[in-house]
Amino acid sequence: MGDENMAAANYYSKDFEWDQLRQEIENDPSLVHHLLPFPNPTTQNQDTLLSSPIEDSEAWNKFHTLHSTGNFFKERRYLLKEFPELASCGKCSTVLEVGCGNGSTALPILRGNKSISLYACDCSEEALERAKENIGAANINLGKERFHPFQCDFSASGFPNWLVCSSCCGSFFQKQNVCSSDASCSQQDFSDPLISAKNNSCIGGVDFVTLIFTLSAVPLNRMRRAITECFSVLKPGGLLLFRDYGLYDMAMLRFEPEQRVGYREYIRSDGTRSYFFCLDSVRDLFCGTGFTELELEYCCVHSVNRRNGKIMRRVWIHGKFQKPHVHIGS
Ligand SMILES: C[S@@+](CC[C@H](N)C(=O)[O-])C[C@H]1O[C@@H](n2cnc3c(N)ncnc32)[C@H](O)[C@@H]1O
Repeated sequence: MGDENMAAANYYSKDFEWDQLRQEIENDPSLVHHLLPFPNPTTQNQDTLLSSPIEDSEAWNKFHTLHSTGNFFKERRYLLKEFPELASCGKCSTVLEVGCGNGSTALPILRGNKSISLYACDCSEEALERAKENIGAANINLGKERFHPFQCDFSASGFPNWLVCSSCCGSFFQKQNVCSSDASCSQQDFSDPLISAKNNSCIGGVDFVTLIFTLSAVPLNRMRRAITECFSVLKPGGLLLFRDYGLYDMAMLRFEPEQRVGYREYIRSDGTRSYFFCLDSVRDLFCGTGFTELELEYCCVHSVNRRNGKIMRRVWIHGKFQKPHVHIGS
């Protein structure tokens, strides 16, 4: 974890073909345990394989407590080059960064677009504290005022109603591209989520959802619910920007057989989980929920391990999905 930033400099390059890597891995007898089908959990082993949302949040809390030093924080400087619409979007645009961690994604967005408001959630309170510190320490125009962190496990409890209430969801069907300043709900202060939460009034949905190395941490059996939640908080025409671990990434091949908890799903020794996506699994999840696919590809990049000089083959998935515009009368 954290290695994803090492290849940040060559964010757009394709150093090798994914299909060539796939053939190599699938013909290597020493890696066969990664390819085997995974049996359904039995009553004896399901406690280990299927963790509860509380256990998952605790594992992430411990992770963020352990990695609380400034050295661990790495700003994803490549982000706005990968997703240029975050820089070019309109003035009242809103972003929801899901699973914000210590703010690695939130920071370049706030820095790159001075008028964006960024809502950021994480299941870990500890992560939110680190994010607040890192955003506070960065010298960004109105950075703290435009950053709205809140605690939430989007795969279990869903997003709070103040992000988009049922009345706003209904108004999407009458009005396209509702901007927060003309949303139809009776909110008094769109910009302050605490006031919104207190008054039970909502911000009218967001223009962008960013899911950057977060979905892989959600157990497979809760992923569909998690994506449905992201779909419902987006305004019609809004974009979901996705980046995560790809199938046969070096981090996957490092897991031992006993760390497998599902097909392409693993648990680390600290209790955090990771899933490795192929293009079809991402497509099924997002398009099956109602999104339209705009971009979806593997990023295959060589990066050098600073400790031993070895070349590592990293595989990430880059995806861009759109919530369809609502057509009046449809
Ligand atoms: C690998 S970090 C990525 C952080 C950040 N998005 C970034 O770009 O660096 C994954 C984050 O997702 C959070 N997370 C994991 N499961 C979650 C869930 N179900 N709901 C909300 N946050 C979650 C973790 O606490 C962790 O901070």
